[in-house]
Amino acid sequence: MIILGIETSCDDTSVGIVQDGRKVLGELTASQIQTHRQYGGVVPEVAAREHCIAIDDVIYTCLEQAGLSWGDINRIAVTNGPGLISSLLMGVSSAKILSSYLDIPVVPVNHLKAHICANNLNKSQDCELPFVCLLVSGGHTQLIYIPDYSNMQLIGQSRDDSAGEAFDKIARLLGLQYPGGPEIQKLAQQATGKHKNLFKFSRPKVGNAEFSFSGLKTAVARQIEELQKINNLTQDNKIAIAYAFEELMTEELSQKLILASQEYNCKNITIAGGVASNARLRDKLNIYIEKYNLNLSVPDMKYCVDNGAMVASAGYYCPDSINTREFNLYSRSQRD
Ligand code: KG4
Ligand code: ZN
Repeated sequence: MIILGIETSCDDTSVGIVQDGRKVLGELTASQIQTHRQYGGVVPEVAAREHCIAIDDVIYTCLEQAGLSWGDINRIAVTNGPGLISSLLMGVSSAKILSSYLDIPVVPVNHLKAHICANNLNKSQDCELPFVCLLVSGGHTQLIYIPDYSNMQLIGQSRDDSAGEAFDKIARLLGLQYPGGPEIQKLAQQATGKHKNLFKFSRPKVGNAEFSFSGLKTAVARQIEELQKINNLTQDNKIAIAYAFEELMTEELSQKLILASQEYNCKNITIAGGVASNARLRDKLNIYIEKYNLNLSVPDMKYCVDNGAMVASAGYYCPDSINTREFNLYSRSQRD
């Protein structure tokens, strides 16, 4: 089964062509990062316009680069939520048109499930079931138990901000560019002994399967403000803040994932979403799995952030419905 997946839920116009949920035959992304950088974050109306300009070319070029023709495609998969409604509409409308023109099914895909399915891309075998997944993206922070793909169970999630939002906000306050996660990571990697105990923030006080990052965000913001007031937001202090924030965030995320795996008596753990590309998070998890005798599966770096291949994979493992025809497929900014 060869599926063409379309992803336009935020600021990437991305298409992937995937065979049997795992083997990537083609992939192409038109990133809008440079456009949004000047605003410090994604501007929905601008994002929709950029999708509109890029989408046809990305679809055709991806098919061509994969050396395939339309006759090879068995199904179209498209993210229909959650996401920015005007951005989603671009992908969903294109998918409907293709489905109608090619007379093949179009299947709606939940963006969060697509992130989870990214764990199977370009792997020699499926991620072993059951597993517990830590999904950490720009919009969500969730722990999910997956006994099988048709029965994903939400264990717990953030009460307020997502981990990605916290990375982006702190980065902005430190004068770093969007998206903030990779920038914070780069800064924190410069930390040496003299930076490591300069600032300390407290772990959020919420339940084992819950997250809350708004308090942490405020505490870091206040610290930055205080340094600015006394004209002391030096490069060393920026490094020390980025380090303290990343340490706390990655400790919180990895410990909660381990706790959830113990609660569900589940040996297999995975991570997904943009924040899952964080190197410190991966390092910590590698230490924890040794200690607790667990198996960790991680997506390739390029499949952590939004991409069309993960949508094609989800169209294979967990489409919302099959044989949905073009007229009853809608975009939804919020999803279950
Ligand atoms: O999954 P994603 O591409 O988009 C959403 O579905 O939201 O995630 C984007 C988020 C951004 O907040 C970005 O700052 C964060 O992922 N991110 C990272 C890293 N790379 C991307 N956060 C921490 N460390 C990274 N290396
Ligand atoms: Zn995403």
